[in-house]
Amino acid sequence: MLLNTSDEAFRINPYTRWLYDHPAYLLPRPTPEQLRARRAERPAGGLRVELGSGSGNFLLELAQAYPGEHVVGFELRYKRLVKSARKFEKLGLTNVWALREPAEQFPGYFGPGSVDALYINFPDPWPKASQWKKRMVNPELLERIETALKPGGCFHLKTDHSGYFLHVLHIVHRSGRWTIRFFSNDLKRNHPPGPKLESEFERMFSAQRKPVFYLCVEKSAC
Ligand SMILES: C[S@@+](CC[C@H](N)C(=O)[O-])C[C@H]1O[C@@H](n2cnc3c(N)ncnc32)[C@H](O)[C@@H]1O
Repeated sequence: MLLNTSDEAFRINPYTRWLYDHPAYLLPRPTPEQLRARRAERPAGGLRVELGSGSGNFLLELAQAYPGEHVVGFELRYKRLVKSARKFEKLGLTNVWALREPAEQFPGYFGPGSVDALYINFPDPWPKASQWKKRMVNPELLERIETALKPGGCFHLKTDHSGYFLHVLHIVHRSGRWTIRFFSNDLKRNHPPGPKLESEFERMFSAQRKPVFYLCVEKSAC
């Protein structure tokens, strides 16, 4: 029997079936107005954004650590999005949303100078030189992050991949418009003050005793 298009999608990835089951937490391809309306239901004093938010653990911990702020994640994989929404729902969180939207599109959802902190945790490393062009952090994305951040806002990067860490350091240095606030090549031993929030990948690498590299850079005053 021929499957119709939606059945075919479910067969390819069963998680597409549950994408619309958590409208309070998971917004698949929302318009900017839809996200704005959702956020307006519970005004908040700040905004934190994670790109490539995976299965949502870091978003969840951010939302708990900053209950008076909004937390928004951008992720593409259905299973990870559904897992995120289930976790948020189970805890009854009211200040966090996961969007099925490419990370690169994030500025379309927020005005310039509106984001307090932007996080990228364990981006896919694309280790071969022929793959570097696929890396999420590139000069264009860094410019978008700079525009989106409030003055004094910070971009936080964590990775287990030393080559990726250097790649980001080069881009940041070359732009000349960032101030390094914290730098660690082993976050377990050298952690900045403040809450210790972990993503799924961070937990996995910590369990394997792999060092985590961390960079926090602040948008310089113009
Ligand atoms: C290695 S995983 C890390 C997940 C999570 N940040 C963590 O630390 O546990 C990288 C994540 O980035 C997501 N990703 C990759 N490219 C993306 C893009 N252009 N937009 C949104 N998410 C993306 C992947 O789907 C994947 O979930």
